[in-house]
Formats: sequence, structure tokens, C-alpha cells
Amino acid sequence: MSKKILILPGDGIGPEIVAQARKVLDVLIADGLDVTISEAPLGGAAYDQYGAPYPEFTQNLARAADAILLGAVGGPQYDTLDRPLRPERGLLAIRKDLNLFANLRPAILYPELANASTLKAEVVSGLDILIVRELTGDIYFGQPRGIRVNANGEREGFNTMLYAESEIRRIAHVAFQAAQKRGKKLCSVDKANVLETTEFWKEIFTEVAKEYPDVELSHMYVDNAAMQLVRRPKQFDVMVTGNIFGDILSDQASMLTGSIGMLPSASLDQNNKGLYEPSHGSAPDIAGKDLANPLATILSLAMMLRYSFNDETAALRVENAVKAVLAKGLRTADIYEEGTEKVSCSAMGDAVVAAL
Ligand code: NAD
Ligand code: IPM
Ligand code: MN
Repeated sequence: MSKKILILPGDGIGPEIVAQARKVLDVLIADGLDVTISEAPLGGAAYDQYGAPYPEFTQNLARAADAILLGAVGGPQYDTLDRPLRPERGLLAIRKDLNLFANLRPAILYPELANASTLKAEVVSGLDILIVRELTGDIYFGQPRGIRVNANGEREGFNTMLYAESEIRRIAHVAFQAAQKRGKKLCSVDKANVLETTEFWKEIFTEVAKEYPDVELSHMYVDNAAMQLVRRPKQFDVMVTGNIFGDILSDQASMLTGSIGMLPSASLDQNNKGLYEPSHGSAPDIAGKDLANPLATILSLAMMLRYSFNDETAALRVENAVKAVLAKGLRTADIYEEGTEKVSCSAMGDAVVAAL
């Protein structure tokens, strides 16, 4: 039976970058990939159409899908809405609804982009890190949360950093198994010197490590990890951390690859049903200008082929096409450097299609 892909273009540059991935997908379909495609709004687009960022229409299609491709959500016009109506809440809601607790963000430097990074080429060349970010817990979802008036009559904002043992265990298994398939080194990032939640995290990781004697587990405080990521990033193989630290460290790691426009992601449930999206946002500053880098989205499609459809051949075909286009010297503005050819978002998509 053919697999079901749901496409969520989202907001800002979302529709532009998703259109490029769609071109790639259409070639794969013409060559025999057996999938059916549907489309739905998420985020601001869904608010505009249905009055909610993750409306029932989208929920039904998302629950029925085998895999989902998302552009990005959000935009300044939605930033003053009530929180439950904001685009970002729609994204958090779909992650939670589908139990997509394991977020994989691979930071790989393509050799052609060694000079596109703001770091020295020798610091980043050969870089290949996998960041495993827990995605459905932590301070993002902990209750209570809100803004209230305290006993002194002053307003205060509050959130709760919280992890249940089962949530830590399941992401630990994902991370250890990912490390087993790679360089067998796992660095768990925490703030155990200050926060009980992450001290507990560290304790559980140490326990789970006994089931993976072939993986070398280390622990690092998040402030040091941020520093080490720019000092000597190649010391890392797999990094695993909670939702908020993972959000921040993965944006930081993206710059090691040349641009945030290069960093794909997969958000998986226990059965490898997944939502695939670039790690970046809707980039309102360049939306509608055909300037965005679509490669993170196209590489997210490759991750879909690999993780949800178990089709390593098709995944490599897409990744090799991206490499070929970079080798030809084509660059969107974010990764442009002298001596290369600057191309638009849609021209980059066309070039990847041509290289498939
Ligand atoms: P952003 O990632 O959208 O943009 C940060 C900077 O990176 C901008 O200068 C932008 O132009 C640039 N950039 C991002 N993606 C790019 C690409 N593909 N090609 C070239 N340049 C790119 O982050 P932000 O500005 O902090 O947030 C903008 C909006 O996106 C907010 O509403 C935010 O909530 C939302 N957001 C959504 C997601 C998501 O949907 N997963 C992720 C992050 C932020
Ligand atoms: C990301 C984004 C989201 C997050 C926001 C938009 C809710 O920054 O996917 O990294 O914080 O998880
Ligand atoms: Mn983020």
C-alpha cells in the first residue's frame, strides 16, 4: 500500500522552501516511489484559514500520515495573538499530539562549504555531529506555567522544567542506539550543577549506559558545551540533551555547517513515524523574495526517506544531488562566497532536481 505524506508549507519562507523539496519528491515519485501526498495548513496559515494553529482538519491528516514534511511557522503579524493561537503553539501541539519525542539534528559540513562557516576551515572541516534533542518535554511543556500576580502584588512569569523518568529513558535509548551506529561516543549535556531536573537526567543516563557497554558516555554542562562547540566541535560524535538546551545548541551548531539553511531535522515517535523540517524558522526578513536556502528542507526529505520509509538508496540519491550542486559552485545568498555562483531559492531547487 502506498505511504501517505502530508505536506505542511507553513508561513514565511515555508511555502518557498517546501516547493523545492516537492519538486525533488515529484521526481522520486515519477521514478517509482509509492506515496500519496496531501497538504494542510499549520501555524499562522492555519490560524488565517481556520482560526487555530493546529486545526482539526490538519490533525486528522497528520494522524493518518506516515510522514510529514514541514516548512516553518511563525511571523511578526502573529506575535501579539493570545498564546494558544500563535503559530509556534501549533508546532508544539503537533509534536506532542504525534508523540514525536526524538528530534535528530545532524550538523554535517559539506567540504565545499568549509569557507562558508564563520569559523576557520580547519576547525570545522570534516565535521559530522548528531544532536539528539528531546522534543516533547522539559520547560516547553511543564506545568504550571503562565504570568500571574504574586503575594507582593507584582506580576511574575513562570515555567516549569520537568522530566518524567520514562521520558528520559526513551530518549536515552534513541541516543545510545544512534551512537552505536556511528562513532560510539555520546555526550549528554545538562546543567546538573544547578538544576535538579537535569541532575535526574544525568542519573538516568548513567544507568541506561550499562545496557550499551560499547558506547562511551560522557557528561558536559551546557555552558561548557556551548563553548566547546565553537572551540573544538569535532570532539563530538552524538550529543543528547533536553528540549530547551537542544533548541539553542542546534542553532549554534548550524553555523558550523555554513548556515542554518543547511541543517535538516527529523522528529520521530517510537515507530519512526516522523515530521521532517529544517531546523530554522520562517525567516520573515527574506520571505517572499525567493532568497531562502531550500537545502535544509530538501535534506529533511532525505531524512524522511531514510527514517520513515527505510529507503537508504533514495535518501542517498537526494543527498548526493545536494552535494553535486554544491560541488558545481551554486550557492544561495546565505552560503555565498566569492568565486561561487549566487542563485535563488527556486533555481537551487531546479539544480538539485537536475542533479538527481
Ligand atoms: P529564523 O530561523 O527564521 O531566522 C534567523 C535568521 O536566519 C534570519 O536572518 C533568516 O533570514 C535566516 N534564515 C533562516 N532560514 C534561512 C534559510 N533557509 N535561508 C537563508 N537564511 C535563513 O529565526 P527567527 O528570526 O528567530 O524567527 C522567525 C520566526 O520563525 C519566528 O516567528 C519564530 O517563532 C519562527 N520559528 C519557527 C521555527 C519552526 O517552524 N521550526 C523554528 C524557529 C523559529
Ligand atoms: C525549532 C523552533 C521551535 C522550538 C519554536 C518555533 C517553537 O525554534 O523547531 O527549533 O523552539 O522548538
Ligand atoms: Mn529553534
